[in-house]
Amino acid sequence: MNCKYFGKCGSCSLYEMTYEQQLSYKINREKERFKEFYINDFEIIKSEDSRFRNRAEFRIWKEYDKENIPTLSYAMTSFEKKVLPISLCEIVSENIHLLMPKLLKLIEKSEILSFKLFACEFLASTTNDILVTLIYHKKLDEKWMQEAKKLEEELKVKIIGRSRGQKIILSSDYINETLTINNKQFFFEYKEGGFTQPNTKVNIQMIQWVLQHLEKSNKDLCELYCGGGNFTIPLSTKFRKTLATEISKTSIKSALRNCELNNIDNIDFIRMSAEEFVEACANKREFNRLKDIDLKEFNFSTIFVDPPRAGLDETTTKLVKNYDKIIYISCNPETLHRDLKELTKTHKIDNFALFDQFAYTNHCESGVILNKI
Ligand SMILES: C[S@@+](CC[C@H](N)C(=O)[O-])C[C@H]1O[C@@H](n2cnc3c(N)ncnc32)[C@H](O)[C@@H]1O
Repeated sequence: MNCKYFGKCGSCSLYEMTYEQQLSYKINREKERFKEFYINDFEIIKSEDSRFRNRAEFRIWKEYDKENIPTLSYAMTSFEKKVLPISLCEIVSENIHLLMPKLLKLIEKSEILSFKLFACEFLASTTNDILVTLIYHKKLDEKWMQEAKKLEEELKVKIIGRSRGQKIILSSDYINETLTINNKQFFFEYKEGGFTQPNTKVNIQMIQWVLQHLEKSNKDLCELYCGGGNFTIPLSTKFRKTLATEISKTSIKSALRNCELNNIDNIDFIRMSAEEFVEACANKREFNRLKDIDLKEFNFSTIFVDPPRAGLDETTTKLVKNYDKIIYISCNPETLHRDLKELTKTHKIDNFALFDQFAYTNHCESGVILNKI
């Protein structure tokens, strides 16, 4: 990939290397980090070289010419932490890339839409569904809604307007996505505000990687940090029953809807933090949210965790160690390393993969499968 903002825009920090070089750099760095636990080769899942991100956020920047006529542009933060106006972004998916200039041109023509517009977020699917969230520093009124509706119809996208204490959904607050996993289609609704994996092609391969390392079982799966069921739904096909928990209400709503869309009825989704789930398992606290679920009815063999950057807290790490098989997907190698120090006291790492979800940045996603010693 070549981007005219390489070296200026603070988003892509590994800009001096080719795709393959930045990947090798990350592989070597992670091999060194994890060598005390794992010395075999990592399985490597590559990204596309460009146009791989299905969600993106930009500031909106206004500049005035000599006649005081404003021009809008998207903006990122530069390495010097200054505003950097940009006309394109090479890492966003093709549909976001094509939409970006058209959207800005139409917004520029409308005083109502452009006034106090502060930021813009895109969420796109491979089925060409796009949600645009316009974020303002002003109260949004009926006039704004009329103008935004016209924009929605002209561009054939879904628009949400946000301002302090306001969220205006013009037609819908989610997009439809279809993921083809091992030749089978899975259907998802991605809701604005819920977590979704940013690199769809890598996401599909992450799910396939986990499935490839799982035998069909008549036992049960426990999942923490399940989001909208991205892994849960395909993985549930390998287990008798699945119990999946997640802290976000928005994500649990999506997860329940995604189950319906895929006609899956062997998953129980519960809105519950990992810390609360630990308390429920230890019978330390009673939860109304668990009133219809008898934890004793599950015969768990495997636990799947995909925590946020902070990794697992101490009590969750202890709980996870009770399961025969642990599947750990991590977006932060530092906290993964810390957690593996503890988990490798009782479990052995059998598989380790690096997923290059965040190409041209220092970030990388990992997958580890551990089995009880
Ligand atoms: C990296 S995302 C993974 C989501 C999902 N596995 C996926 O692939 O889309 C982490 C998820 O953990 C949730 N989360 C954050 N803190 C949590 C906590 N303390 N307990 C449970 N879930 C939490 C977030 O809402 C988010 O959905």
